[in-house]
Amino acid sequence: MFQQLFQQSFSKIILLIFLLPISQSLFAQENPDDIINACSACHGFDGVGKEAGIPSLWGQPETYLKHQIEAFRDSTRINLAMDAVSHELPDKDIIYAAQYYSKQTGPSDLSGSLVWRGDKWPGDMSLGEKIAYTGKLAVKMPACVTCHGPSGVGVAPFFPRLGGQDKNYLSNQLHAWKTGKRPPGTMGVMVGIAISLTDEEVEAVTAYFAAQGEKK
Ligand code: HEC
Ligand code: HEC
Repeated sequence: MFQQLFQQSFSKIILLIFLLPISQSLFAQENPDDIINACSACHGFDGVGKEAGIPSLWGQPETYLKHQIEAFRDSTRINLAMDAVSHELPDKDIIYAAQYYSKQTGPSDLSGSLVWRGDKWPGDMSLGEKIAYTGKLAVKMPACVTCHGPSGVGVAPFFPRLGGQDKNYLSNQLHAWKTGKRPPGTMGVMVGIAISLTDEEVEAVTAYFAAQGEKK
Protein backbone atom coordinates (compact mmCIF):
# COMPACT_ATOMS: atom_id res chain seq x y z
CA MET A 1 0.00 0.00 0.00
CA PHE A 2 2.77 2.37 0.97
CA GLN A 3 4.54 1.52 -2.19
CA GLN A 4 1.42 2.34 -4.21
CA LEU A 5 1.06 5.68 -2.48
CA PHE A 6 4.70 6.43 -3.00
CA GLN A 7 4.43 5.57 -6.67
CA GLN A 8 1.37 7.79 -7.07
CA SER A 9 2.93 10.80 -5.44
CA PHE A 10 6.18 10.10 -7.18
CA SER A 11 4.47 10.25 -10.56
CA LYS A 12 2.81 13.52 -9.49
CA ILE A 13 6.19 14.98 -8.63
CA ILE A 14 7.53 13.90 -12.01
CA LEU A 15 4.53 15.54 -13.67
CA LEU A 16 5.12 18.74 -11.71
CA ILE A 17 8.76 18.81 -12.67
CA PHE A 18 7.73 18.62 -16.30
CA LEU A 19 4.99 21.23 -15.98
CA LEU A 20 6.95 23.76 -13.96
CA PRO A 21 9.16 25.04 -16.79
CA ILE A 22 6.10 25.27 -19.07
CA SER A 23 4.12 27.40 -16.63
CA GLN A 24 7.18 29.54 -15.93
CA SER A 25 7.70 30.21 -19.60
CA LEU A 26 3.99 31.05 -19.95
CA PHE A 27 4.36 33.73 -17.28
CA ALA A 28 7.57 34.96 -18.78
CA GLN A 29 5.81 35.43 -22.11
CA GLU A 30 2.96 37.48 -20.62
CA ASN A 31 3.00 40.76 -22.45
CA PRO A 32 2.57 43.83 -20.20
CA ASP A 33 0.83 45.54 -23.11
CA ASP A 34 -2.04 43.03 -22.79
CA ILE A 35 -3.48 45.24 -20.09
CA ILE A 36 -3.42 48.26 -22.42
CA ASN A 37 -5.30 46.21 -25.03
CA ALA A 38 -8.08 45.83 -22.47
CA CYS A 39 -8.17 49.55 -21.60
CA SER A 40 -7.93 50.70 -25.20
CA ALA A 41 -11.46 49.48 -25.99
CA CYS A 42 -12.68 52.60 -24.20
CA HIS A 43 -9.64 54.83 -23.62
CA GLY A 44 -7.80 54.17 -26.90
CA PHE A 45 -4.10 53.32 -27.17
CA ASP A 46 -3.35 57.04 -27.24
CA GLY A 47 -5.48 57.70 -24.15
CA VAL A 48 -8.25 59.53 -26.00
CA GLY A 49 -11.68 58.49 -24.72
CA LYS A 50 -13.82 56.82 -27.39
CA GLU A 51 -17.21 58.19 -26.37
CA ALA A 52 -18.76 61.05 -24.45
CA GLY A 53 -18.42 60.35 -20.73
CA ILE A 54 -15.18 58.37 -21.12
CA PRO A 55 -12.20 60.41 -19.91
CA SER A 56 -9.04 60.94 -21.89
CA LEU A 57 -6.08 59.67 -19.86
CA TRP A 58 -3.12 60.97 -21.89
CA GLY A 59 -0.61 63.05 -20.01
CA GLN A 60 -2.39 62.74 -16.66
CA PRO A 61 0.02 62.60 -13.71
CA GLU A 62 1.09 58.99 -13.15
CA THR A 63 0.40 59.14 -9.40
CA TYR A 64 -3.07 60.56 -10.00
CA LEU A 65 -3.94 57.76 -12.47
CA LYS A 66 -2.61 55.10 -10.12
CA HIS A 67 -4.73 56.40 -7.23
CA GLN A 68 -7.89 56.45 -9.36
CA ILE A 69 -7.44 52.91 -10.72
CA GLU A 70 -6.83 51.68 -7.17
CA ALA A 71 -9.98 53.48 -6.03
CA PHE A 72 -12.03 51.72 -8.74
CA ARG A 73 -10.45 48.37 -7.84
CA ASP A 74 -11.17 48.87 -4.14
CA SER A 75 -14.72 50.08 -4.93
CA THR A 76 -14.26 53.42 -3.17
CA ARG A 77 -14.87 55.09 -6.55
CA ILE A 78 -17.81 53.42 -8.27
CA ASN A 79 -18.39 53.12 -12.00
CA LEU A 80 -19.91 50.13 -13.74
CA ALA A 81 -17.50 50.04 -16.70
CA MET A 82 -14.41 50.54 -14.55
CA ASP A 83 -15.53 48.13 -11.86
CA ALA A 84 -15.57 45.26 -14.36
CA VAL A 85 -12.04 45.90 -15.66
CA SER A 86 -10.31 46.91 -12.45
CA HIS A 87 -11.79 44.44 -10.00
CA GLU A 88 -8.92 41.97 -9.92
CA LEU A 89 -6.12 44.02 -11.41
CA PRO A 90 -2.76 43.20 -9.82
CA ASP A 91 -0.61 46.14 -8.65
CA LYS A 92 1.91 45.59 -11.44
CA ASP A 93 -0.76 46.11 -14.12
CA ILE A 94 -2.03 49.25 -12.39
CA ILE A 95 1.49 50.67 -12.26
CA TYR A 96 2.10 49.75 -15.90
CA ALA A 97 -1.17 51.28 -17.14
CA ALA A 98 -0.66 54.48 -15.10
CA GLN A 99 2.87 54.87 -16.49
CA TYR A 100 1.78 54.08 -20.04
CA TYR A 101 -1.08 56.60 -20.19
CA SER A 102 0.83 59.34 -18.37
CA LYS A 103 3.44 59.15 -21.16
CA GLN A 104 0.97 59.56 -24.04
CA THR A 105 1.11 63.07 -25.41
CA GLY A 106 -2.44 63.30 -26.73
CA PRO A 107 -3.82 65.32 -29.58
CA SER A 108 -3.52 68.75 -28.04
CA ASP A 109 -0.57 70.78 -26.93
CA LEU A 110 -1.84 72.83 -24.05
CA SER A 111 1.61 74.18 -23.32
CA GLY A 112 1.39 76.33 -26.44
CA SER A 113 -1.62 78.23 -25.17
CA LEU A 114 -1.15 78.61 -21.42
CA VAL A 115 -2.85 81.66 -20.04
CA TRP A 116 -3.06 83.09 -16.55
CA ARG A 117 -5.55 85.72 -17.71
CA GLY A 118 -3.59 88.67 -16.37
CA ASP A 119 -4.56 90.26 -19.68
CA LYS A 120 -8.33 90.34 -19.19
CA TRP A 121 -10.79 91.91 -16.74
CA PRO A 122 -13.07 89.40 -15.02
CA GLY A 123 -15.98 91.51 -16.27
CA ASP A 124 -14.95 90.73 -19.86
CA MET A 125 -14.83 86.97 -19.30
CA SER A 126 -17.54 84.38 -20.01
CA LEU A 127 -19.00 82.69 -16.94
CA GLY A 128 -16.89 79.53 -17.33
CA GLU A 129 -13.67 81.42 -17.88
CA LYS A 130 -14.39 83.68 -14.91
CA ILE A 131 -14.84 80.73 -12.53
CA ALA A 132 -11.72 79.05 -13.93
CA TYR A 133 -9.54 82.15 -13.41
CA THR A 134 -11.10 83.99 -10.47
CA GLY A 135 -13.13 81.37 -8.56
CA LYS A 136 -16.08 82.62 -6.52
CA LEU A 137 -14.96 85.15 -3.99
CA ALA A 138 -18.36 85.35 -2.29
CA VAL A 139 -18.10 81.72 -1.15
CA LYS A 140 -14.30 81.79 -0.79
CA MET A 141 -13.89 79.34 -3.65
CA PRO A 142 -10.40 79.57 -5.18
CA ALA A 143 -9.88 79.77 -8.93
CA CYS A 144 -9.66 76.34 -10.56
CA VAL A 145 -6.31 77.20 -12.18
CA THR A 146 -4.61 77.73 -8.81
CA CYS A 147 -4.55 73.95 -8.46
CA HIS A 148 -5.15 72.62 -11.99
CA GLY A 149 -2.64 74.97 -13.63
CA PRO A 150 -3.06 77.52 -16.42
CA SER A 151 -5.57 76.33 -19.04
CA GLY A 152 -6.20 73.37 -16.69
CA VAL A 153 -2.98 71.76 -17.90
CA GLY A 154 -2.67 69.60 -14.74
CA VAL A 155 -0.01 69.72 -12.06
CA ALA A 156 1.80 66.51 -11.07
CA PRO A 157 1.52 64.50 -8.94
CA PHE A 158 -2.04 65.12 -7.67
CA PHE A 159 -3.94 67.67 -9.80
CA PRO A 160 -5.43 66.18 -12.97
CA ARG A 161 -5.54 67.89 -16.35
CA LEU A 162 -8.92 69.42 -17.13
CA GLY A 163 -7.89 71.13 -20.40
CA GLY A 164 -9.08 69.21 -23.47
CA GLN A 165 -10.92 66.69 -21.28
CA ASP A 166 -14.29 65.29 -22.36
CA LYS A 167 -17.02 67.78 -21.39
CA ASN A 168 -19.57 65.16 -20.20
CA TYR A 169 -16.94 63.38 -18.15
CA LEU A 170 -15.96 66.63 -16.37
CA SER A 171 -19.51 67.58 -15.46
CA ASN A 172 -20.31 63.99 -14.39
CA GLN A 173 -17.45 64.25 -11.88
CA LEU A 174 -18.66 67.52 -10.36
CA HIS A 175 -22.18 66.06 -10.02
CA ALA A 176 -20.70 62.88 -8.51
CA TRP A 177 -19.00 64.96 -5.80
CA LYS A 178 -22.17 66.98 -5.21
CA THR A 179 -24.11 63.78 -4.59
CA GLY A 180 -21.42 61.93 -2.60
CA LYS A 181 -20.77 59.41 -5.39
CA ARG A 182 -17.05 60.04 -5.82
CA PRO A 183 -14.67 59.84 -2.84
CA PRO A 184 -13.22 63.21 -1.76
CA GLY A 185 -9.74 62.35 -3.12
CA THR A 186 -6.49 64.19 -2.48
CA MET A 187 -6.89 67.08 -0.02
CA GLY A 188 -10.67 66.50 0.03
CA VAL A 189 -11.15 69.88 -1.62
CA MET A 190 -13.30 68.98 -4.62
CA VAL A 191 -16.43 68.16 -2.61
CA GLY A 192 -16.76 71.71 -1.23
CA ILE A 193 -15.89 73.21 -4.60
CA ALA A 194 -18.47 71.12 -6.47
CA ILE A 195 -21.18 71.93 -3.92
CA SER A 196 -20.54 75.66 -4.22
CA LEU A 197 -21.10 75.59 -8.02
CA THR A 198 -24.63 75.93 -9.42
CA ASP A 199 -25.64 73.58 -12.26
CA GLU A 200 -25.29 76.49 -14.67
CA GLU A 201 -21.76 77.17 -13.43
CA VAL A 202 -20.83 73.48 -13.71
CA GLU A 203 -21.95 73.57 -17.36
CA ALA A 204 -20.02 76.77 -18.06
CA VAL A 205 -16.74 75.89 -16.38
CA THR A 206 -16.58 72.32 -17.76
CA ALA A 207 -17.34 73.61 -21.27
CA TYR A 208 -14.54 76.14 -20.83
CA PHE A 209 -11.92 73.56 -19.83
CA ALA A 210 -13.06 70.98 -22.40
CA ALA A 211 -12.48 73.56 -25.13
CA GLN A 212 -8.84 74.23 -24.16
CA GLY A 213 -6.31 72.78 -26.61
CA GLU A 214 -7.40 70.95 -29.73
CA LYS A 215 -9.17 67.64 -29.58
CA LYS A 216 -8.91 65.01 -32.27
C1 HEC B 1 -15.86 49.60 -21.01
C2 HEC B 1 -15.17 50.85 -21.05
C3 HEC B 1 -13.91 51.03 -20.21
C4 HEC B 1 -12.79 50.21 -20.17
C5 HEC B 1 -12.54 48.91 -20.90
C6 HEC B 1 -11.84 50.88 -19.28
N1 HEC B 1 -12.38 52.07 -18.82
FE1 HEC B 1 -11.47 53.38 -17.58
N2 HEC B 1 -13.16 54.53 -17.55
C7 HEC B 1 -14.33 54.27 -18.25
C8 HEC B 1 -15.34 55.25 -17.89
C9 HEC B 1 -16.76 55.33 -18.43
C10 HEC B 1 -14.75 56.12 -16.94
C11 HEC B 1 -15.41 57.30 -16.24
C12 HEC B 1 -15.92 56.88 -14.89
C13 HEC B 1 -16.61 57.98 -14.14
O1 HEC B 1 -17.38 58.75 -14.74
O2 HEC B 1 -16.34 58.10 -12.94
C14 HEC B 1 -13.38 55.64 -16.76
C15 HEC B 1 -12.45 56.23 -15.92
C16 HEC B 1 -11.12 55.85 -15.80
C17 HEC B 1 -10.13 56.55 -15.01
C18 HEC B 1 -10.32 57.83 -14.23
C19 HEC B 1 -9.73 59.00 -14.97
C20 HEC B 1 -9.69 60.28 -14.19
O3 HEC B 1 -9.37 61.30 -14.79
O4 HEC B 1 -9.96 60.26 -12.98
C21 HEC B 1 -8.95 55.85 -15.14
C22 HEC B 1 -7.60 56.19 -14.53
C23 HEC B 1 -9.22 54.72 -16.00
N3 HEC B 1 -10.55 54.74 -16.39
C24 HEC B 1 -8.26 53.77 -16.36
C25 HEC B 1 -8.56 52.60 -17.07
C26 HEC B 1 -7.62 51.52 -17.26
C27 HEC B 1 -6.18 51.51 -16.75
C28 HEC B 1 -8.27 50.56 -17.98
C29 HEC B 1 -7.74 49.20 -18.39
C30 HEC B 1 -7.36 48.32 -17.32
C31 HEC B 1 -9.63 51.05 -18.23
N4 HEC B 1 -9.75 52.29 -17.66
C32 HEC B 1 -10.59 50.38 -18.96
C33 HEC B 1 -14.51 53.24 -19.15
C34 HEC B 1 -13.64 52.19 -19.35
C1 HEC C 1 -7.37 73.57 -3.89
C2 HEC C 1 -7.08 72.82 -5.11
C3 HEC C 1 -8.17 72.67 -6.16
C4 HEC C 1 -8.96 73.66 -6.72
C5 HEC C 1 -8.98 75.14 -6.39
C6 HEC C 1 -9.77 73.00 -7.72
N1 HEC C 1 -9.47 71.66 -7.77
FE1 HEC C 1 -10.37 70.28 -8.97
N2 HEC C 1 -9.20 68.82 -8.19
C7 HEC C 1 -8.29 68.99 -7.17
C8 HEC C 1 -7.75 67.70 -6.80
C9 HEC C 1 -6.72 67.43 -5.70
C10 HEC C 1 -8.36 66.76 -7.66
C11 HEC C 1 -8.13 65.23 -7.66
C12 HEC C 1 -9.16 64.61 -6.75
C13 HEC C 1 -8.92 63.14 -6.51
O1 HEC C 1 -7.81 62.80 -6.07
O2 HEC C 1 -9.84 62.36 -6.75
C14 HEC C 1 -9.27 67.49 -8.52
C15 HEC C 1 -10.06 66.90 -9.50
C16 HEC C 1 -10.97 67.58 -10.30
C17 HEC C 1 -11.80 66.98 -11.32
C18 HEC C 1 -11.81 65.52 -11.72
C19 HEC C 1 -10.91 65.36 -12.92
C20 HEC C 1 -10.75 63.93 -13.37
O3 HEC C 1 -9.90 63.69 -14.23
O4 HEC C 1 -11.47 63.06 -12.86
C21 HEC C 1 -12.56 67.97 -11.86
C22 HEC C 1 -13.60 67.84 -12.95
C23 HEC C 1 -12.18 69.21 -11.20
N3 HEC C 1 -11.23 68.93 -10.25
C24 HEC C 1 -12.72 70.43 -11.52
C25 HEC C 1 -12.39 71.61 -10.86
C26 HEC C 1 -13.01 72.90 -11.16
C27 HEC C 1 -14.04 73.13 -12.25
C28 HEC C 1 -12.46 73.79 -10.28
C29 HEC C 1 -12.83 75.24 -10.12
C30 HEC C 1 -14.24 75.54 -9.97
C31 HEC C 1 -11.49 73.07 -9.46
N4 HEC C 1 -11.48 71.75 -9.83
C32 HEC C 1 -10.73 73.66 -8.47
C33 HEC C 1 -7.93 70.19 -6.57
C34 HEC C 1 -8.50 71.41 -6.83
